[in-house]
Amino acid sequence: MNLLITAGPTREAIDPVRYLSNRSSGRMGYALAQAALEAGHGVTLISGPVSIPAPVGAQVVRVESAQDMYEAVRSHLASQDAAIFAAAVADYRPAQVAGQKIKKASEQLTLQLERTPDILGSARAVFGFQGVLVGFAAETEDLLAHAQEKLHRKGCDLLIANDVSRPGTGFDSEENEVTLLFPNAAPRPLPRGPKTAIAREIIRLVSGLRRPPSIP
Ligand code: C5P
Repeated sequence: MNLLITAGPTREAIDPVRYLSNRSSGRMGYALAQAALEAGHGVTLISGPVSIPAPVGAQVVRVESAQDMYEAVRSHLASQDAAIFAAAVADYRPAQVAGQKIKKASEQLTLQLERTPDILGSARAVFGFQGVLVGFAAETEDLLAHAQEKLHRKGCDLLIANDVSRPGTGFDSEENEVTLLFPNAAPRPLPRGPKTAIAREIIRLVSGLRRPPSIP
C-alpha cells in the first residue's frame, strides 16, 4: 500500500521571528511511518517542524504552517491507498502576519486569530479521497463522545482517540494509551504502551481496512 502520514505540530507566524505552535513532538506520526515502512508500505510523511530524525525510506515533505500542510496533502493524496492524519495542526493562526518584528510599545497586545483549514476534514469533502482515512482525536474531556462525533463528521474509517489530560501519555511523551473507534464496530481500547507498539497495531489494522477499488 501507499500511505500518507501527517505528523508534528504546525507553526503559525505572528511576525518574522515569532509563531504560535503546540507541544506535539511528532513521535506518534514518525512511529507510524516507521511501522508502515517495516510492513513494506510506501510512505509519504508530511511533517511539521520536529527534532527527531525521519525514518529511512520515507518520502519526507517538510512544512511549517497549517496552510503549507494543507497544500502538501492536497498535492500528494490522490496516489495514496490510506492516509493517517497524526499531525497536531494549529486550529487558529494570526489573521495578519506582521511584516516586521512587533515592537513592545504598549502594555497589552491583542492578536486576532482566524481558523486554519481543516486538512482531515477536507480529505473526503474537498479532495475527494476514496482510500482508507484515519484521524486522531486528542481530548481532555468526554473523550469517546467527542471522538465518535469527529469520526462521522470527517468521514474516517478509523479514529484514534487519546485522553491528553493524563500525565505520561499523549503529547510530547514516549507512551500512549488510545481507544480505536470504527464507524460500525464497538470501540476498542488498546493497552498503554510505547508509541512504537501502538503504531505497529494501527498499521496492521489499516492494512486490513483496505477498501476495494471503486467501480467506475
Ligand atoms: O478537530 P480536531 O482538530 O480535534 O481533529 C483532530 C484530527 O484532525 C487529527 O487527525 C488532526 O491531524 C486533524 N486535523 C487536521 N487539520 C486541522 C485540524 C486537525 O488535519 N486543521
